[in-house]
Amino acid sequence: MSTSRDVDIIQVSVENEELLAQVKRTETVAKGKCIVPKWLPPILIIVLILTILGAAFAMGYFISYPRKSIKPLKLYNESCTVLSGECDDSRGLYCPSGRCICETVNSYYNGSSCICPNLTHVANQACVADPFYGQTCSPPTIYCISNFICSTAGVCTCNATTQFFNESYCITQYVYNASCTETRHCSNTSNLYCLSNRCACVSNYYWNGSSCVPKKLGWQTCNNVTTGASALPCDDTLSLYCYSNSTCQCPNTMYWDINYQQCETKRLYGDICNADFYCNETLNFICPTLPGTCNCPAWSNDYTCDCQPNWFYDGLQCIQRKSINGTCLGTYACDRNTPLVCFSGLCLCPTPTTWTGSNCTCSSGQTWTGSTCVVVG
Ligand SMILES: *[C@@H]1O[C@H](CO)[C@@H](O)[C@H](O)[C@H]1NC(C)=O
Ligand SMILES: *[C@@H]1O[C@H](CO)[C@@H](O)[C@H](O)[C@H]1NC(C)=O
Ligand SMILES: *[C@@H]1O[C@H](CO)[C@@H](O)[C@H](O)[C@H]1NC(C)=O
Ligand SMILES: *[C@@H]1O[C@H](CO)[C@@H](O)[C@H](O)[C@H]1NC(C)=O
Ligand SMILES: *[C@@H]1O[C@H](CO)[C@@H](O)[C@H](O)[C@H]1NC(C)=O
Ligand SMILES: *[C@@H]1O[C@H](CO)[C@@H](O)[C@H](O)[C@H]1NC(C)=O
Ligand SMILES: *[C@@H]1O[C@H](CO)[C@@H](O)[C@H](O)[C@H]1NC(C)=O
Ligand SMILES: *[C@@H]1O[C@H](CO)[C@@H](O)[C@H](O)[C@H]1NC(C)=O
Ligand SMILES: *[C@@H]1O[C@H](CO)[C@@H](O)[C@H](O)[C@H]1NC(C)=O
Ligand SMILES: *[C@@H]1O[C@H](CO)[C@@H](O)[C@H](O)[C@H]1NC(C)=O
Ligand SMILES: *[C@@H]1O[C@H](CO)[C@@H](O)[C@H](O)[C@H]1NC(C)=O
Ligand SMILES: *[C@@H]1O[C@H](CO)[C@@H](O)[C@H](O)[C@H]1NC(C)=O
Repeated sequence: MSTSRDVDIIQVSVENEELLAQVKRTETVAKGKCIVPKWLPPILIIVLILTILGAAFAMGYFISYPRKSIKPLKLYNESCTVLSGECDDSRGLYCPSGRCICETVNSYYNGSSCICPNLTHVANQACVADPFYGQTCSPPTIYCISNFICSTAGVCTCNATTQFFNESYCITQYVYNASCTETRHCSNTSNLYCLSNRCACVSNYYWNGSSCVPKKLGWQTCNNVTTGASALPCDDTLSLYCYSNSTCQCPNTMYWDINYQQCETKRLYGDICNADFYCNETLNFICPTLPGTCNCPAWSNDYTCDCQPNWFYDGLQCIQRKSINGTCLGTYACDRNTPLVCFSGLCLCPTPTTWTGSNCTCSSGQTWTGSTCVVVG
């Protein structure tokens, strides 16, 4: 929105600036200074700064790094000035007496640098033997000698679960039936022991093809195969054997005690029982499960070995109650079904009944009530 008036004013000011510049140049010349282009001073300043920096770096470099020989560092067995630093210490060389040799004690020059021999490592400026079984290790600088492994505790050892130490090496533990002299030689993970110089299972375990596992206990399914994947042997150390119905059973004079997990001798008269098989059946004992079934001289409880009904205990075993004229010490010994009573040491018919060949009967027309004869009807 400039008017013609504004334009006029601007033109006037421009003319004035040119005029002022001319005056300045005139004054400078008059004071005897030379005229330089405007761009020259910044360039000069930059060049000056670069020069100073360069000089500073160069000085710093020469101050911090003492000047070395321009010649290359010397290699093994080259002659050198004693303790001059002429030998290449990056190769482990130094100059103790006129020739470059290896600095680390016991190290040797392999053609390009000084190294410790195999099975040694650097410690205290010397090559020392790598640690043996039981000594401390710390990979990757200090490895164990032989085939020992460095345990997490930093000790050279063998793998405790799969190996044993034979005084010089870690040996993989032996498999089943391998010959051995100590149990630690046999595979622990397979639960093998050294028995009679063979890696084997302890007597109540069997080899199932991959490890030793417990033999079968009472009532468990079994077979007569003793070793291998199909084997299911009964624990013979507990006297169990595989009965024909493929269950482990005790010998017939014993029963399997579920609480003690072993075979026990079958029980005798008056002993506590849980089932008939607890009781000695050759002596005719049973295990009554209801009270009051006892037919014996003394009252006995349920769940104790006792006689079956109409039998009695004679002091050794259960026998059948006696028939007519049998000897007795009490009516308990006489057949109660016929029925007989003990009188004067003999089993006789209770009066007024009489023996009729197989039982005691009342006279005709009468019947036995259990204590006497009464007329029928
Ligand atoms: C070192 O050099 C000398 C002289 O050159 C030589 O006699 C000597 O056998 C060399 N020694 C080794 C270890 O190379
Ligand atoms: C010498 O040892 C160094 C370091 O272990 C190795 O890098 C180099 O290859 C070895 N040189 C020869 C010639 O064996
Ligand atoms: C040192 O060990 C390396 C690798 O196990 C083997 O190649 C070399 O022959 C061994 N050197 C000596 C001197 O036993
Ligand atoms: C021992 O050996 C077994 C089987 O090779 C491996 O699984 C286990 O990690 C080893 N243990 C150690 C401590 O090296
Ligand atoms: C240990 O085993 C290694 C390798 O089988 C064998 O050379 C060495 O004689 C054995 N050492 C002993 C003490 O049995
Ligand atoms: C165990 O090894 C012996 C001898 O090598 C062999 O006679 C026997 O049959 C083996 N026993 C088993 C169960 O493999
Ligand atoms: C296996 O190792 C464990 C732990 O060290 C030990 O208790 C066990 O008796 C070993 N078993 C055998 C068969 O050596
Ligand atoms: C196992 O062997 C015994 C003795 O020879 C035999 O009496 C039994 O019946 C056998 N058991 C089976 C399940 O074959
Ligand atoms: C196997 O035989 C025993 C002993 O006679 C018996 O008590 C058991 O009930 C039988 N088991 C089976 C499953 O037949
Ligand atoms: C029962 O006991 C007698 C006497 O103790 C013994 O001789 C017999 O073998 C036993 N029988 C059974 C099956 O336990
Ligand atoms: C029982 O004994 C008596 C006397 O000895 C005898 O007379 C009687 O016939 C016998 N009874 C029977 C059933 O044997
Ligand atoms: C005794 O035997 C007769 C037949 O011989 C029979 O009729 C009677 O019921 C029997 N009495 C008893 C108590 O068993």
